[in-house]
Amino acid sequence: MGRVELIAAHTLDSAVQWVADLLFRQYQDALSEADCYTISLAGGGTPRNLYALLASPLWRAKFDWERIGIFVGDERHVPQTDPRSNFRMIRETLLDRVLVPQRNLHPIRTTDDIESDAKLYAKVLEQSLPTASRFVRFDTVLLGLGPDGHTASLFPGSTALHETERSVVDVVPPNAPTPRITITPPVINNARNVIVLTAGHLKAGALARLLAMDGTVDDIPARAIDPIDGKFYIVCDLPTCERLDELPLRDGIVTRRL
Ligand code: 6PG
Repeated sequence: MGRVELIAAHTLDSAVQWVADLLFRQYQDALSEADCYTISLAGGGTPRNLYALLASPLWRAKFDWERIGIFVGDERHVPQTDPRSNFRMIRETLLDRVLVPQRNLHPIRTTDDIESDAKLYAKVLEQSLPTASRFVRFDTVLLGLGPDGHTASLFPGSTALHETERSVVDVVPPNAPTPRITITPPVINNARNVIVLTAGHLKAGALARLLAMDGTVDDIPARAIDPIDGKFYIVCDLPTCERLDELPLRDGIVTRRL
């Protein structure tokens, strides 16, 4: 595993502020070289605060939303109107409040054929993103972290953790009733920047095992995150860090306290 910057913010709000600043820098870097900044957004609850901040008047005015491609890293296989939908959450907290053109939005289709939906999303990625070493390349992939160490919809013991050919797969989570569609580790690790945003003491065990010297991807799926040449940031609040002294940590962790 390569270098990871661990940003330990005092609170979730300060963590979110730091991620917003980081995203703006990554957006500027991308547009200095290309016409569009591409980001894969995370689902779940933690990023809601970030999306709401980005949609606030001061922040939304900083971005040219016409030049941002919005994707989602994983999706519950439910209609986009379903409260469990990640894209519905992203729409409600961010997209409905900024002027991003429809052509820049890339939700994951959810019909009654999950395999064809996964294949379609892989095709959408190929048509929308540059490719490097066989896989599409995002400017930024934003992820969360589950208490069991999952990220996106890559769950403990899942064969998707060892996918080497497909960029998008459908999965059945071990403890959740809803099938999912998710990008795979080769896509995550091909990104220019990977950011894990997580918070709360419920994630402290997962973070400690993610950063521990020893551990397996099957046990802690977020250990599959290992960008080939991109930057890797883990941004969290202090309660998430409360168990980092329990295990010997691996090399390459650069910690910054905010
Ligand atoms: C999802 C997410 C998932 C999430 C983690 C953390 O579809 O739920 O992709 O990977 O990021 O479960 O979720 P919270 O932020 O709600 O704790």
